[in-house]
Amino acid sequence: MSPIKKKLIIGNWKMNLTVHEASIFVHTLSQSIAVHRDVEVVLAPTLLALQPISLQIDRRQFKLAAQNFYWRDQGAFTGEVSAAQLRGLVEYALVGHSERRHVFHEHDKDIRSKVQAAVRNGIRPVLCIGETAHERSSGETADVLHDQLLGGLANVTSEELGQVVIAYEPVWAIGTGNNATPDDVKKAVRAIRRQIEHLYGQKAANEIRVLYGGSVTPESAATYLATDGIDGLLVGGASLSGPSFTAIVGLAHHEGEAA
Ligand code: 13P
Repeated sequence: MSPIKKKLIIGNWKMNLTVHEASIFVHTLSQSIAVHRDVEVVLAPTLLALQPISLQIDRRQFKLAAQNFYWRDQGAFTGEVSAAQLRGLVEYALVGHSERRHVFHEHDKDIRSKVQAAVRNGIRPVLCIGETAHERSSGETADVLHDQLLGGLANVTSEELGQVVIAYEPVWAIGTGNNATPDDVKKAVRAIRRQIEHLYGQKAANEIRVLYGGSVTPESAATYLATDGIDGLLVGGASLSGPSFTAIVGLAHHEGEAA
């Protein structure tokens, strides 16, 4: 049994909203989302909006996440932004999101370097893992999760693992409206925690935070939040709607109260 933890709700806005629109949207969310001690709400806007939004938010209400960064700390890497440059600005950073893996061809080697760069710079990496539709239909889900965890966490010490969050995002469920069943999620989370136990021991397996992501809506959120072993949600499309995202955070609060 996992201990009761604060629910973590992350809104990944992907490549949506201009800086100005993002700022207006944060203002709207700040009016509708209440601060709850049992829920941590994290916003992942465009990289460009991180700085202005960091000055706009009350960090008790919202924390910030980067959607991406480069793993070297500085140097001749035109167009890139490093974890060292994000230090102090964001508390979290997504790493290995399926769009990074599949659209931008990031491999486990890049992903592990990013996990390490985040940890080195005091940023909590949210390591995203998940199988494709093809891997799922071939019965390879557990193997894929195993390989992606092993690849992403190579060289992460037990002590550093405390900073890491895992997000289970089946690729076939992202942006498709085809969300995973609670049974799919339960099985995946069990496989993830087993693997963490194998690598880092029982205590680490219980303590690590595991999120679900993939077509989460206010209608489906409560079921995932109540799934054993799930500590929160990584929300894409529904995080761009004020009422939907507010409702999801509210459900996380009620789930925390019910636990
Ligand atoms: P959707 O919620 O739009 O499926 O996106 C999920 C996701 O990729 C969050 O990182």
